[in-house]
Amino acid sequence: MKIAILGAGVVGGGVFEVLNKNRGVIAKRAGCEIEVSHILCRRPRPEHPAADLLRYSFEDIINDPEVSVIAECMGGITPAYDYVKRSLLAGKSVVTSNKELVAEHGRELCDIAEKMNLSFMFEAAVAGGIPVLRPICRCLAANEISSVVGILNGTTNYILTEMIRHGKSFNDALSEAQAKGFAEADPTADVMGIDAGRKICILADLCFGKEVKPKDVRTLGIDKISKVDIELARELGYRIKLLGQAMRTGPNSVTAFVAPTLISRSNPLSSVDGVQNAVRIKGDAVGEVLLTGPGAGALPTASAVTADIIDAVRGGTYMGYWPSEPGYVTDPEELSCRFMIRAEAELSSLQAILPDATVVHSRSGDFALLTAYTSEKELRSRLSEISLISIYRVLD
Ligand code: HSE
Repeated sequence: MKIAILGAGVVGGGVFEVLNKNRGVIAKRAGCEIEVSHILCRRPRPEHPAADLLRYSFEDIINDPEVSVIAECMGGITPAYDYVKRSLLAGKSVVTSNKELVAEHGRELCDIAEKMNLSFMFEAAVAGGIPVLRPICRCLAANEISSVVGILNGTTNYILTEMIRHGKSFNDALSEAQAKGFAEADPTADVMGIDAGRKICILADLCFGKEVKPKDVRTLGIDKISKVDIELARELGYRIKLLGQAMRTGPNSVTAFVAPTLISRSNPLSSVDGVQNAVRIKGDAVGEVLLTGPGAGALPTASAVTADIIDAVRGGTYMGYWPSEPGYVTDPEELSCRFMIRAEAELSSLQAILPDATVVHSRSGDFALLTAYTSEKELRSRLSEISLISIYRVLD
């Protein structure tokens, strides 16, 4: 079976390596030898171990009738969307690690794959090497899922872990994450929560069966988390993690958002560190399921892409189908939870407004309040005359 890999970067290179390294076991599981016949590359790479397979034009690949499966590992929308759509329409199954593509166009691409009786799979697009999308679509298919919560970005989790556990600066930790190949070339999408936002979109789509669009997901990044916030959270018994969350808010509505969130140290999610990711799913039959593992990096991501290739070669299937519906995604500011807040105000004035809040002090005299359950809307309205320094949700 001949396949093509689009992209010779971290993920594309990893897929090529895994297919070669585990050739024997992969052939047994796929039922045939899998041969990479083309690798699409943006620029010449004479040092590439398979330089004879490198192609610089997608036309060389789509016009090869022997190629049955395409592994898209380029990332981004342009030209990936065009290439993937044309591949499916040309009768080739597609697997992809591209979360931006799936979050924006997954519904349309699944629809085309279904009509063409082809595979379109994207296990690697969420939480890297952790098997999470198949478990949701298949193993948990009997459940009504009420919520999905995850540490969905390896780069930010790595940075926060280094800041929390080793007192490193944000910039040093980011440079390390880039050097290790976790962070995107432009880390803005990681740091600002946009990458996690795309992943929670895909999870929400598959968990709840309707389309959540990236523009409907409110995302906050980790760029404003200070050492004082980290210290005050610790004093209260919490760690700060960047979480993507999606949950049912009514019979026909959900909410989805990404935000730095306080997690109690007794919650297993709080000790998911470094580049590890985790996804917690609540189903009405199964209860709570927690999946953890490597969320980024060449070989863990390639593990998931290659499994999709094997499935596609065996005549797999598409992963899901989700119709869209106006008004389906509601505002997370309506959700009730507790918050940790810091504000530029006298403690006594804040206590007058929030008499039920718990107060905590840092060694250097800063303080924060842990509120009772309230919605962000209600909290912001009560504090409308106060200048807030920071506000964090608490996950219970
Ligand atoms: N930049 C992403 C991350 C790669 O850090 O999680 C995996 O999607």
